[in-house]
This record gives sequence, C-alpha cells and structure tokens, in this order.
Amino acid sequence: MKILTIVGARPQFVKAALVSEAIQATGGLIEVVVHTGQHYDANMSALFFDQLEIAEPRYNLGIGSGPHGRQTGDMMARLEEVAGQERPDWMLVYGDTNSTIAGALVASKIHLPIAHVEAGLRSFNRRMPEEVNRIVTDTLSTLLLCPTGTAVENLAREGITRGVHRVGDVMLDMVRRARSRAAATRACERLGVASGGFYLVTVHRAENTDNPERLRGILAGLDRLDAPVVFPVHPRTRGALEAIGWRPRDGAAIRLIEPVGYLEMIELAANARAVLTDSGGLQKEALFLGRPCVTLREETEWIETLQGGWNVLAGTSPDRIAEALARPPEDAPPTGAFGDGHAARRIATLLAGHPEAAGCG
Ligand code: UD1
Repeated sequence: MKILTIVGARPQFVKAALVSEAIQATGGLIEVVVHTGQHYDANMSALFFDQLEIAEPRYNLGIGSGPHGRQTGDMMARLEEVAGQERPDWMLVYGDTNSTIAGALVASKIHLPIAHVEAGLRSFNRRMPEEVNRIVTDTLSTLLLCPTGTAVENLAREGITRGVHRVGDVMLDMVRRARSRAAATRACERLGVASGGFYLVTVHRAENTDNPERLRGILAGLDRLDAPVVFPVHPRTRGALEAIGWRPRDGAAIRLIEPVGYLEMIELAANARAVLTDSGGLQKEALFLGRPCVTLREETEWIETLQGGWNVLAGTSPDRIAEALARPPEDAPPTGAFGDGHAARRIATLLAGHPEAAGCG
C-alpha cells in the first residue's frame, strides 16, 4: 500500500519524523514524502530533516510563501500532478497549515482517502487560518487520528464519528525520544543562560504578528520580565518587528536570535523558568518537559495543558502576562492526556489496516 505524505512547515517535520519511521517498520507500507516548500529557510526546514533524521522528500515543490490563496492554490496544482504520477492509496496530512488543506482538497477531488494526524483540534476562532484548515481537512478525512480525548469530542460535536481514533500525540513521542540528544546540544551554555534563569519566548501567529497593538503588548510584557529572555524569531515575526521599528531597549536582557533547531528548542524549553508563546506545539512541549507556560493568545486548542495552571492564557496584555507568571502551577503536569508515547506506532498500524490498534486508553 502506498502512502503519499504531505509536509511543508516546521511543526509537520517534527510530527512526520516518527510516523515515517513507524511506517517504514510496518510491513506492506511504502511512503512517498512531498515537501511543499512552505518553509524553505535552512533553519526552518533542512535543519529539521537533518536533526530528526528524516529521509529526503522524493518531491520538493518549492512553493515558498505568498498570500493564502496563491500559496494554497500553487500547492494544489503541483500536488495534483504528483498524486497523478504516484497513484497512492492514501494521502497523509498533518496539523493545520496551508500545506495540510492543499493536500486534503487535492485528495478529495481525486477520491483518495485522507488520513489526518492531529485531527479534531479546535480553537473555535474562525479568524485563524489554521482553524479553517482544520475544519475542512477533518470534514474530508477518512482516518481521523486524534491526539486527545477533547479532539475526539470536538469531532463528535460536528457529527464526525466514523474513522476517528484516539492515538495519542506524536509530539509527546518525539519529546521523549529527543530528550538526551537535546541535552547534548548544550544550547543554554552556548547562549550563556543558566537552567531556570531565563524565559523562552516565541511568537508567530498572524493574530499577533499582523496586529501592531497586540505585538507591542507582548513586547511590553517581555520588557518587564525579571530574568533574561531568549527569543528565537520566526521570519514572519522578524518582518513584523521591523515594520513597527522595535528594538530591545538598551540594557534590556532580550536576546533576539535566529530560529533554532528542534533539539536546541527542546533543550531551551526544558531549562527555561517559563515559556511564553503563541505556538501550539511549544505549549505542549513545555508541559511534557514540566515547565510552566504562558500562552500569548485568548484561547488554546490544547485545553488539557491548562489543568493545574501549567499553561495560562494571558493574551497580549503586559499585566496579564505578569499575573500569569506570578502563579506557579499546582500538582503534576497532566501529560497522561496526550497518550503513552506510542502514537506514531499506532498511526502506522491503523494505516496498514489493523484497526484493532485504535485507542490508547
Ligand atoms: C505556518 C502555518 C502555521 C504553523 C506555522 C509554523 C499556515 C496558514 N500557517 O505559519 O499553522 O503553525 O507555519 O511555523 O499554513 N518565511 C521565511 N522563511 C521560511 C518560512 C517562512 O522567510 O522558511 C516567512 C515568509 O516571509 C512568509 C512568512 O514567513 O511570508 C510566513 O510564512 P507562512 O508559511 O505563510 O506561514 P507561517 O507564519 O510560518
């Protein structure tokens, strides 16, 4: 059975790595990987393939960035050609990016069943491009591979119950696998920050980068923090900071650095006093690593992370950010909600046609 896997953006490389490995280990499955080229900078793409030991994609469509319509449309045109050439039995898509929806739309038009990893996630905010990508992809999917029980419930509320499997979160699998290699990067030492003595910050969601008022709120919040800030800057955010003419004030301990690799990111998150982010993936990674997180948004898809105060929604107001950091989490981090670290294996087994693998308890 042949699977055509579509990836394109940083978080998809992380999710696909262990699933591809599990597919290779499962008899009877052949995987052909297509990289749309949505993320193309070396430190947003090649570095991830290298660190996560992902096989070179058979196709790199080189689509790059652009307005949503053009980016998605260009991907669709090329993916249709590739699907026609490869004649796969399944299309496998990940998460919620424009690469995901492009793959799903193409597959549905040529009657190719779709398997969606990270199905059922909802922010209930349709102004987010990712939310629309999720809803459409889930509607079109045959195999809906959910990371959490909440994701299964979200689908049921939309009337989607067939082909739904709670498999656990492949990002938990990956954090567990990467922990010791992450430590070997000595990322903290190289940046001159001590364990527990700095904050790790990332910002890239359009709602924050494309709204100068929200972006300024976050920056004012960072300016008040009581320890150095390590801030790997996504290219979208670099553009937004330039557009508002912002630079850290003299004497402020805010280190703007280039995007870092997955292993460095895990090492930084594991050692940060707290993580401040609008990324979905990093909210979970902070939890998996037992570090408190402040989410710079008004809502989260990952509501399990909020239990015990491990993740706090603070939006972009400097006061709310400060208040969130002042409340330490209680109890143990609720990582059990994200499965048992064997999600990738379950996904490969389901793809191979062994539905008895469903459900991770
Ligand atoms: C995309 C996804 C988002 C995911 C995120 C992970 C969509 C709608 N959004 O957002 O769900 O969480 O990836 O990072 O698909 N750029 C570069 N170099 C790169 C990649 C991007 O310079 O390697 C710049 C371009 O100027 C581009 C901007 O970043 O305009 C945004 O890139 P884009 O692919 O549109 O979306 P992301 O913000 O990365």
